[in-house]
Amino acid sequence: MRLAVLGGSGSLGRAVTAAAIAAGHTVTAVSRRPPATLPAGTRHVAADVTTGVGLDAAFAGAEAIIDGTNAMANAREVLVEGTRTVLDAAKAATVPHFVGISIVGIDTAPFAYYRIKVEQEAVIQESPVPWSLLRATQFHDLVPRLVAGRLGISVVPRRFSIQPIDVREVAQLLVDAAIGGPAGRLPDAGGPEVLQLADIGRDYLRAAHVRRWMLRVPVPGAKGRFLSSGSLCCPDHKVGTKTFAQWLAEGFPS
Ligand SMILES: NC(=O)c1ccc[n+]([C@@H]2O[C@H](COP(=O)([O-])OP(=O)(O)OC[C@H]3O[C@@H](n4cnc5c(N)ncnc54)[C@H](OP(=O)(O)O)[C@@H]3O)[C@@H](O)[C@H]2O)c1
Repeated sequence: MRLAVLGGSGSLGRAVTAAAIAAGHTVTAVSRRPPATLPAGTRHVAADVTTGVGLDAAFAGAEAIIDGTNAMANAREVLVEGTRTVLDAAKAATVPHFVGISIVGIDTAPFAYYRIKVEQEAVIQESPVPWSLLRATQFHDLVPRLVAGRLGISVVPRRFSIQPIDVREVAQLLVDAAIGGPAGRLPDAGGPEVLQLADIGRDYLRAAHVRRWMLRVPVPGAKGRFLSSGSLCCPDHKVGTKTFAQWLAEGFPS
């Protein structure tokens, strides 16, 4: 199958590309800048989802699009308006299937980024192109970003229930979804264990020999209640098998 992988230089996009190539598919990796390395048989097409420039070349001949695009600073521009632009370009290129990714449990999340992801989901659900949409929990490789901190200090919520999943397992689900054809909302995908961010963040810093003073701070109000409630977890959907400890033991592949 010929796949266009948006966000092809990112964490999820690189894993999707690797999984697709391993399964014998043809991949066009799409992002503004090329990934540092491209698996043999993959081509890169430069495109910007905020302007649409490059998407026609990226989507020509594609039988499915898997979207691993992400942004924090200009999240609405990329994830909401950008997804509209992507879907219009997919329709124009007669791509028959768009596979999107979102996050478990975000419906009522009191965080701007998660609200934007819910808006992105709505755009996908109104897509002019047949679609599938998978919600996953946080990837293992998000934890280093969450505890990176500044000036030797890492500030983490005292209570943040997290069910991390290996990005490679999410990537495999997305490739399977692309092959399976448009299916709408797919069952949620969570990692094998519900853990506390502060605990696994500490484990990561130790394993990576990163010296940080970790401050576990209470998060007040609705945000604190949300993070501690386990809303971002799906213990009934422990689809991932690779634990965070196993990922650490493997040397944190991403
Ligand atoms: N990380 C997690 O824990 C997690 C969990 C569940 C779901 N998700 C979802 O998975 C998706 C991917 O997340 P990620 O963490 O893998 O992202 P990431 O590593 O930050 O990668 C983002 C990708 O988007 C590309 N991109 C950004 N702006 C762009 C633009 N204007 N035009 C074209 N490409 C652009 C980047 O490449 P360039 O900068 O070179 O363009 C990069 O390839 C997101 O939808 C996220 O919400 C993530």
